[in-house]
Amino acid sequence: MEKTRIAVLVSGGGTNLQALLDAQSRGALPSGEIVLVLSNRRDAYALTRAEKAGIAHRAIERKDYPDAPAFEAALLDALRQSGAELLILAGFLAILSEDFTRRYPQRILNIHPSLIPAFCGKGYYGLRVHEAALQRGVKVSGATVHFVNEIPDGGEILLQKAIPVEPDDTPETLQKRIMEQCEWILLPQAAEMVSARIARAKEAQS
Ligand code: GAR
Repeated sequence: MEKTRIAVLVSGGGTNLQALLDAQSRGALPSGEIVLVLSNRRDAYALTRAEKAGIAHRAIERKDYPDAPAFEAALLDALRQSGAELLILAGFLAILSEDFTRRYPQRILNIHPSLIPAFCGKGYYGLRVHEAALQRGVKVSGATVHFVNEIPDGGEILLQKAIPVEPDDTPETLQKRIMEQCEWILLPQAAEMVSARIARAKEAQS
């Protein structure tokens, strides 16, 4: 079966990208192939990870374009050139417009570091999510992989995993455990699930 072409969008350290790259090299992503890594920050370490893995990578920064539509047009152009069929937001911290998300219905995945619908939506990203969870005093937290639609963190939920919050957790320790025990496991699983779905749909059409 023809593999699903995947583009991974990143903004930072790229540990979730690394989990996808590692899954691909150990054969745990048999239905997909990562063909492009796109960053909205030139200094993102995720780009170095892509380079080391020999994957095509590019930085497209909002500040180099007059407005958001022009920035998104540049992203779309790069994605089209790569032939990407599935987009994975792996710590991509720019919010995509409805015009953008409508072009890829059920074709954009996002990983969010909480159990949606808790601590999600505009303003909840990275460490802030864990600060809010600890402030609220929740006893479990975790991660969610969901499809992306026009509502920030509002698309259909695909996978979730929960872990206990420990009494002495700091935002940093909670973030680390959620990454290691939830995010890096869930994201490659979801990538394979959806890649297989897309590959089967293509086969059925041909
Ligand atoms: C991850 O924890 C990811 O879940 C989160 O940013 C971090 C990126 O780390 N994403 C969000 O908060 C999205 N709302 P990484 O660059 O090491 O993968």
